[in-house]
Amino acid sequence: MPPTTHRPARASRLLLAALLASAFVSTPAQTPRARDARRPSRPVSRRDEIERRIDQLLARMTLEEKLGQLQQLDGEANGNFRPEHVEMIRRGLLGSTLNVRGAQRTNELQRVAMNESRLKIPHLFAFDVIHGYRTIFPVPLGEAASFDPGAAERAAEIAAREATAAGVRWTFAPMVDVARDARWGRITEGAGEDPYLGSAFARARVRGFQGADYGAPDRVVACAKHFVAYGAAEAGRDYNTVDISERTLREIYFPPFEAAVEAGVGSFMSAFNDLNGVPASANRFTLSDVLRGEWKFDGVVVSDYTSVEELIKHGVASDGKDAARLALGAGVDVEMVSRLFNQHARALLAEQKITQAQIDEAVRRVLRVKFRLGLFERPYTDESLEAKVLLSPEHRAAARTLAARSFVLLKNDGGTLPLSKNVKSLAVVGALADDQLDMMGSWNGDGRAEDVVTLLSALRQKLPSTRITFARGCDVRCDTDAGFAEAARAARDADATVVVLGEDAGMSGEASSRATLDLPGRQLDLLKAVHATGKPYVVVLMNGRPLTINWAAENSHAILETWFAGTEAGDAIADALFGDANPGGKLPVTFPRAVGQEPLYYNHMNTGRPPDANNKYTSKYLDVLWTPLYPFGYGLSYTTFKLSNLTLSAARVPVNGRLTASVEVENTGARAGDEVVQLYIHRAAGASVTRPVAELKGFERVTLAPGERRRVSFTLTPKELGYYDREMRFSVEPGTFRVTVGTSSVGGLEASFDVVAR
Ligand code: BGC
Repeated sequence: MPPTTHRPARASRLLLAALLASAFVSTPAQTPRARDARRPSRPVSRRDEIERRIDQLLARMTLEEKLGQLQQLDGEANGNFRPEHVEMIRRGLLGSTLNVRGAQRTNELQRVAMNESRLKIPHLFAFDVIHGYRTIFPVPLGEAASFDPGAAERAAEIAAREATAAGVRWTFAPMVDVARDARWGRITEGAGEDPYLGSAFARARVRGFQGADYGAPDRVVACAKHFVAYGAAEAGRDYNTVDISERTLREIYFPPFEAAVEAGVGSFMSAFNDLNGVPASANRFTLSDVLRGEWKFDGVVVSDYTSVEELIKHGVASDGKDAARLALGAGVDVEMVSRLFNQHARALLAEQKITQAQIDEAVRRVLRVKFRLGLFERPYTDESLEAKVLLSPEHRAAARTLAARSFVLLKNDGGTLPLSKNVKSLAVVGALADDQLDMMGSWNGDGRAEDVVTLLSALRQKLPSTRITFARGCDVRCDTDAGFAEAARAARDADATVVVLGEDAGMSGEASSRATLDLPGRQLDLLKAVHATGKPYVVVLMNGRPLTINWAAENSHAILETWFAGTEAGDAIADALFGDANPGGKLPVTFPRAVGQEPLYYNHMNTGRPPDANNKYTSKYLDVLWTPLYPFGYGLSYTTFKLSNLTLSAARVPVNGRLTASVEVENTGARAGDEVVQLYIHRAAGASVTRPVAELKGFERVTLAPGERRRVSFTLTPKELGYYDREMRFSVEPGTFRVTVGTSSVGGLEASFDVVAR
């Protein structure tokens, strides 16, 4: 055996000897009695205490009451509960609801559970608190564009504080699905195309929602969803089939989920899609072998909305009873909306198709979360909190700052942006400039349109002495040019124009896949009409996914991507347009030139015939360049940065070693600003399997004053350097690695090092 294997064993022998010695040597100051007093027999941990209480409760539950804990039903869209909920809770037949919210309403229902049900098991209120409860933050894709996980953590923390004030203790977030296809509308709900960035945001958002202990009264239990590979839906069509290799599953789609488990996430949601022939909500491999077996997850798994019943349409369950058997057997604990566990578990038990132990284990997981939440001790919500907490000035201020951090400056020729506050007249063109609802994006929690600051109103506030003219031009999906002349006139009469273009909120999110990525309706023609005036203008984009904006990229001087930025969207965009905030976000997804390039992502394999403009027989298209319009990690600033002096801590690293790469970053411009320094690796030729051309393995967003410089360091460990070999073992293979440190996934400073056997 190699010497390294002996070392830990020797160390632990020494430790054991020391412990034994200290146990038997008694000094006068440490008589056995004194020792006992100072160190009582191991106290019962909170964890043990919870398991003991679960045992006691389980022993008293009837089968119906147990199945009740596994049932989740939907409330009304406005937050009300339904009459049947009251009766079911009274009889112990309903463990949780989704969408029922509001302190008063949740307390009212909770009183039924606590006062009128036999076992007084508290009810659990769940809700999709995705990017804010009442104060709405940028859509998650926008938050990811900040490349600042701390910002997402803060947003989730505020969302949790508001949600708990409204009686909600379980959020169905974060969505940690990697999405490499911009056609898929739910790309807006996640952190984009990269597993490393996705993992960082998964951890941050779980921490933000749950804190160190989700039992704290202002925290919620988070839910990593949708397990798994939902984002790989074929052709980007929502709910569609997924067929990917186990390597892609483990290297691309699993990591953010595993990161969520490491961060202590309390629940998982099983996805709608089938995966390599087995629907995710009946998938024992992912739900039990990987999630519980490999990752040791001990929280609860909830099915997605009716996904248990949908096993019938998938064709793997012959009827409702069979669907219940498959889902329970695979590892689903709570059934959302459909009621097949409840309807069929008794018969399935009698027929020995499921076991009592399976049911008990699922109930145990539900109760564990309820105990950890502290619901048995504090089932009610203080009804005075909502008025103080929701949409507080502090939360609005945070939303404004975080929104500005999510913006990505795509183009800024000749320093067109920021605009001068001395501008005498300003035209604002485009329906989205004055739309409150769309700013909240696809999941808007309990957000209200009337709370939202639009860009038009923010500009009027910021520039009281500027003459501001608004022309809608056309609606997002319009098919007429009726408003173009008015828009062009407004642009002609103004010193500068802000043209606001994009999607409406309903064009991304669930069931909102698109087969084209162009600006919808006649918006491009509207842009051309403004452009034709010859007057200066800037483009502001609002959208939930990458768009093909080739014409604007070529012809417009300045483009600011703002996603759907939430309650404070208008103020934050106005801050960025007029230099009170300096955009520093980067694209968490690749922007293609044409929809036909999708799925398009930076961390692709090289192929045997990488694209070569001079050689037809290489991997590319006849009609569109193979490169993206804007690559992953890309984004400009109002200032400029220079990277220099890339150094590696070693030229050779053992397979189990670590290496530090550091680089100097300097603000070489005249304004303070943010740069996101990004480190990518590439395993050079000689690996046992093909490897991506680049993989993000470190990033840091830094703020620098003009002239300021800083050294930024990244550490690479076996976790970053390893991958799955041909036998699907995760290992670090000796060989050469290239390190690229840059400000996007394209270009940068390069160095290389060798990984050696030892
Ligand atoms: C979505 C989930 C969501 C659930 C509950 C489903 O349609 O896929 O993301 O959490 O509904 O609202």
